[in-house]
Amino acid sequence: MSDFKKLEDFDFNGKRVLVRVDLNVPVADGKVTDNTRIVRLGPTMSHIIEHGGTPVLLSHFGRPKGKVNPEFSLRFIVNTIKNAFGQPVEFVETDWSDVSAAKSKLDAGAKGTIYVMENTRFHPGEEANDDELATRMASLGDIYLNDAFSAAHRAHASTAAIAHKLPSGAGRAMETELSALQKGLGQPQKPVIAIVGGAKVSTKIDLLENLVTKVEALVIGGGMANTFLHAQGIDIGKSLCEKDLAETARRIYDKAADANCAIILPIDGVVAWHFEAGAPNRTYGVEAMDQTGMMLDVGDRSIERIKGAIDEAKTLIWNGPLGAFELDPFGKGTIAIAHYAAKRTNDGKLVSVAGGGDTVAALAKAKVVNDFSYVSTAGGAFLEWMEGKPLPGVEALKN
Ligand code: 3PG
Repeated sequence: MSDFKKLEDFDFNGKRVLVRVDLNVPVADGKVTDNTRIVRLGPTMSHIIEHGGTPVLLSHFGRPKGKVNPEFSLRFIVNTIKNAFGQPVEFVETDWSDVSAAKSKLDAGAKGTIYVMENTRFHPGEEANDDELATRMASLGDIYLNDAFSAAHRAHASTAAIAHKLPSGAGRAMETELSALQKGLGQPQKPVIAIVGGAKVSTKIDLLENLVTKVEALVIGGGMANTFLHAQGIDIGKSLCEKDLAETARRIYDKAADANCAIILPIDGVVAWHFEAGAPNRTYGVEAMDQTGMMLDVGDRSIERIKGAIDEAKTLIWNGPLGAFELDPFGKGTIAIAHYAAKRTNDGKLVSVAGGGDTVAALAKAKVVNDFSYVSTAGGAFLEWMEGKPLPGVEALKN
């Protein structure tokens, strides 16, 4: 983290602080259904306000494709932010082509108030990382902080170009996320075990190829495990499988062998004949799979094997569920492993870092989000970080 300026490196007194946050939160019927991304901004907000500064929040919301679209306005989020921080919050109508009116409103603003600017993606320059838009954004404040790790994989005007226009640094949430990730994969305590699940190998090829060179053991679960089993010549019946990726799976296997990374695949699976909650099911060893059904979860023997592998590790990084966890009872494997990793963490035996939308939902279902060392709310950014790619929003902050 010495590469970045942190909150302590700035004098916020009397300054307007542009904070790139990620207000791209899940919403149903106009209500925020999970405010974790907002709650995690608390320490940055209170630090700025306690030190005499005024936070001005910049964020995107959804994908309005560079056009003003009231459906994607950030006006609705003001109350959620107010409730989260107990601080006055005001929305600032913003024309990103001409910010003079917005600037006048901020100039006349009150100390101790948090200001929320309109969706940065209402202007096409945002996603184009346009320099002129970044200059206009920067004219609204004195200091720029990025507190949105989950948007750091985007090279956009409010995440990248703007960082070169003002004294810039990382907010507390960004700092915490980067140091947790550093413990997970940057400079972890070894041995490291990775658990990667989810439906498809095709979305995680880069990630798997990077991980096998960095970790001592890689557990592959979920639908993507079937592709690996198929590549080993194992008949997986009607299970989800990307047969055209068998060669890719074998290449990943070879790379893992060269790097001394053990790949751990399911040895048994819970098979059902319908993809629905409560479907009748039975557990088979993978060598004797029923050819008419599909594997929807790992079996008990696999669960024990994964637990044994976790016992040997000091660090765990996890992305993707081990089965169709959203359909009961096919979340059993994911939940059992989540509980086990939480226990090892609470016993001080494991540093556990998890991320990605489905993973967070699975850990929430297992009620262990607070028992992991760190759970990232980032989706795409977490994946790109696991792939070993530099993230533009992080790179732009480097001194
Ligand atoms: C996210 O929710 O993962 C981030 O806000 C990024 O959103 P995007 O995929 O629309 O860029």
